[in-house]
Amino acid sequence: MCGIVGYIGYRDAYPIIVKGLQRLEYRGYDSAGIALFDGEEINLSKTKGKVDDLKKKAEGSISLKGNLGIGHTRWATHGAPNDVNSHPHYSNSGDLVIIHNGIIENYDAIKKELINRGYVFSSDTDTEVLVNLIEEVKRKENVKLGHAVQIALNQVVGAYAIAVIDKQKPDEIVVAKLGSPLAIGIGEKEFFVASDASPFIEYTNNAVYLEDEEMAIIRLGKEIKLRKIKDNSIAYPSIQELQLNLEEIEKGGFEHFMLKEIYEQPRAILDTYRGRLLAKEGLIRMAGIDENLEKFLNANRIIIVACGTSWHAGLVAEYIFEDLARIPVEVEYASEFRYRNPVVTENDVLIAISQSGETADTLAAIKLAKEKGAFVFGVCNVVGSSIARETDAGAYTHAGPEIGVASTKAFTTQITVLTLLALKLAKAKGVFNNTRFHEYLTELEQIPAKVEEVLLTNPLVEIIADVYKDSPNCLYLGRGYNFPVALEGALKLKEISYIHAEGYPAAEMKHGPIALIDEHMPVVVIATSKGHYEKIVSNIQEIKSRKGKIIAVVTKGDVQVRELADHVIEVPETLENLTPLLTTIPLQLLSYHIAVMRGCNVDQPRNLAKSVTVE
Ligand code: AGP
Repeated sequence: MCGIVGYIGYRDAYPIIVKGLQRLEYRGYDSAGIALFDGEEINLSKTKGKVDDLKKKAEGSISLKGNLGIGHTRWATHGAPNDVNSHPHYSNSGDLVIIHNGIIENYDAIKKELINRGYVFSSDTDTEVLVNLIEEVKRKENVKLGHAVQIALNQVVGAYAIAVIDKQKPDEIVVAKLGSPLAIGIGEKEFFVASDASPFIEYTNNAVYLEDEEMAIIRLGKEIKLRKIKDNSIAYPSIQELQLNLEEIEKGGFEHFMLKEIYEQPRAILDTYRGRLLAKEGLIRMAGIDENLEKFLNANRIIIVACGTSWHAGLVAEYIFEDLARIPVEVEYASEFRYRNPVVTENDVLIAISQSGETADTLAAIKLAKEKGAFVFGVCNVVGSSIARETDAGAYTHAGPEIGVASTKAFTTQITVLTLLALKLAKAKGVFNNTRFHEYLTELEQIPAKVEEVLLTNPLVEIIADVYKDSPNCLYLGRGYNFPVALEGALKLKEISYIHAEGYPAAEMKHGPIALIDEHMPVVVIATSKGHYEKIVSNIQEIKSRKGKIIAVVTKGDVQVRELADHVIEVPETLENLTPLLTTIPLQLLSYHIAVMRGCNVDQPRNLAKSVTVE
């Protein structure tokens, strides 16, 4: 939910930390702060607002010297987004400074105890409590910073990725992780810490991802020391050589990350099935599935848990798995699943879908299912993320970093992975003969080119967006495989343009929503040729007869809907099960253009963060 960055080395820390925070603003951006240690003093500046606001404030108020520093960009969980609640936080003595991503759930009780011992607090945050708990432990136990952090963290309940520095130790940063991501960049005579690799990837691609309940004492000129927080035992770092490169992170010439990521989908889908889809050999090769095929084949059912867009991908998967592999599937909101005391047994397979791999509700649902004996399979986009490491097996989407808060390429690559899984199971179960299997593999290989073709409708979509950019409401309708796409299109529009939008199965209109139709109501209808076409045409007629404005997504060459709709966007023909990979694209573009025309912050919409790592 927040972004943390730290640096210790031979360079000036300030520019590295500030640029790193800007790269992490997708994780939260309601306030930002930095602390720099020049060897004498720890100079700290923080402010409500974004990193640019922090730069203006810091450059006019504190010394920017120092080769050691920590910085933070916040998405508020405890305490309103204001200057005093922003991070970093000093301890009472001013010797310790901390930044934190996560939630300390028992901070209130700890705060009361510290107040009894004479501590005073200037903020409402759980983080200021944590830094003073560390200070109290350090004082009382007379131990060094690393040990004090370890003892203190054994007294807290919650999630954290923290970095702490000590005025007495100008060559050290102590970091620790539970439930929130933390990566350590290992350079030549310098170290970086951050919520992900984007702040340090231009300096080094050697990284260690801390595991849960691990901490590291980072000292200049020394190897990093990893410890288990529970018992201070030694942990061993596994250094990963990252393939992430900087241009993937930059906007690549597009005005917004979201548009860049919409246009990246042909490559992202290709990268996701590359090496896995071997059409010529008539094979699908996926290690995480091959090694666990029996678990899927013998499963009573598949339970899919996710949130938001990932939940919509789960709905598409439900149609695909049941239609192709004939395996019962239930799709659940992770936030509901984790609290409703679900019936789960060791005969169930749970698939968790998450772009960030850090969504708290999805992570909790996984842990619950594992406690009940289910086999858990993850579909994540972030290598080394908490969900990726919590699941028994998994398959990564290879979408590359998704910086825009609105998920786009994550959705289509999730569907790609899930389609490969469903096809593999259908073949293994003998539901598919070789011919049908081969038909799907070769069609899937055509999808990137067909997505490129849909992207050519962008200018038309922009014209349509201009017509409806001021509509206060919008309905999205679809049937079959396109019902989840209707939900996804509505979510895209509402989360970046702030227009109220709802998605429905088209047949549901007559059960109430049709009362909303009048000449002011735009209705996006996904009416492709495969799957209940005639029925959706009659839904369109019902809307037209009530003067609703119809934006139809149709299969190339469609005639019937063209005569009824006010606007028509064509997508190429494909297999019914693969339609969502194409029909979602115009809806992404429509929401993008409307949001831009409305002057909304497309990449960082209000009230939202890219990764919801708190409940
Ligand atoms: C989608 O555009 C939103 N950003 C949001 O609904 C997101 O899909 C949801 O928070 C789940 O995130 P995850 O895929 O990282 O778990």
